[in-house]
Amino acid sequence: MIRTPVCDLLDIEHPIALGGMGSATNAALVAAVSRAGGLGALGCHYLTPQQISERTAAIRQETNKPFGLNFLTFDTREDSFAEALELRPSVMQFAWARPDQDLRAYFSRAHDAGCRVTYMAGAVPEAVRAAKAGADVIIAQGSEGGGHVGWMGSLPLIPMIVDAVGPVPVLAAGGFADGRGLIAALSLGAQGILLGTRFLATVESPLHPNFKQAIVDSDGHDTQLSEIPDIAAGLVWPGAMTRSRRNRFVERWSGREWALRQNRVEALARLRAARESGDVDEGPLSMGQDAGLIHDIPRAGDLVTRIAREAEQILTQKLTQFVSKPN
Ligand SMILES: Cc1cc2nc3c(=O)[nH]c(=O)nc-3n(C[C@H](O)[C@H](O)[C@H](O)COP(=O)(O)O)c2cc1C
Repeated sequence: MIRTPVCDLLDIEHPIALGGMGSATNAALVAAVSRAGGLGALGCHYLTPQQISERTAAIRQETNKPFGLNFLTFDTREDSFAEALELRPSVMQFAWARPDQDLRAYFSRAHDAGCRVTYMAGAVPEAVRAAKAGADVIIAQGSEGGGHVGWMGSLPLIPMIVDAVGPVPVLAAGGFADGRGLIAALSLGAQGILLGTRFLATVESPLHPNFKQAIVDSDGHDTQLSEIPDIAAGLVWPGAMTRSRRNRFVERWSGREWALRQNRVEALARLRAARESGDVDEGPLSMGQDAGLIHDIPRAGDLVTRIAREAEQILTQKLTQFVSKPN
């Protein structure tokens, strides 16, 4: 079994975490990942205090293992954040703060509630800022990933962040989907991986079945970075674009973002209807380039076990053959 120090810090068995992906996470998915020994996380963005409390109770009904609650720092509702602290999850996952926000204030409140703090960063200065503010773990997120990402690819970014924030442990995110990815992340100095897209295509994921199938069908070359989903939603994200499936909706507005701003209300209504009905050509599907590595829709717990086992086999069987004794 592969165990790294971050497993002890977060009280988990496998160094494999679920990204708290807003409405793309639910209690069943979080519980399944945590029950299997990974770290589940519920996206609390836009949830009311009551919804957070109900969903946390639902997770706790299914497992007593640690899990996290995820907040987008730039757009955090104070009443929801306060409720989350009252619930005392093992981990508070933060991401995407505005430059003027005081991270230490958020992190201290989480620590006072007995939580570990993780912060996701897509650039070295942002990771250093979070480490200095007291984050227990930094998630280094490369631009291959799904959803909102920065500008640096995982391969250079992860070791750069490892070097910059050490001894604070780092989890690697963005483009990781299997045991090979876990071993690559460990080689880069990270202590584990955090996955988004891979967990979207699981039995427990709340995505419409058509969207799960679109991830399986993707060859990984059909994603695009744009501001189009945010413009439609009326959101101003601090320093990110969204990586999503390049479908009819994205192609319609690419290069015509000004027109999307003019027609935002109508476009958003169409987008929401398409999401509900499972229309993969007109609905938004945030996904990473690692969609090309995803070929099935397993149970999330089985996936955690599979990734852990595959990584161990690579480390103990495949890689050792490349080490030769000096003559
Ligand atoms: C649909 C979707 C929604 C996401 N929402 C959030 C979020 O609300 N908070 C967050 O910290 N990260 C969010 N992320 C980013 C993930 O936490 C993670 O960094 C990313 O998915 C990693 O790349 P991967 O998709 O290649 O695994 C989201 C990702 C996706 C695909």
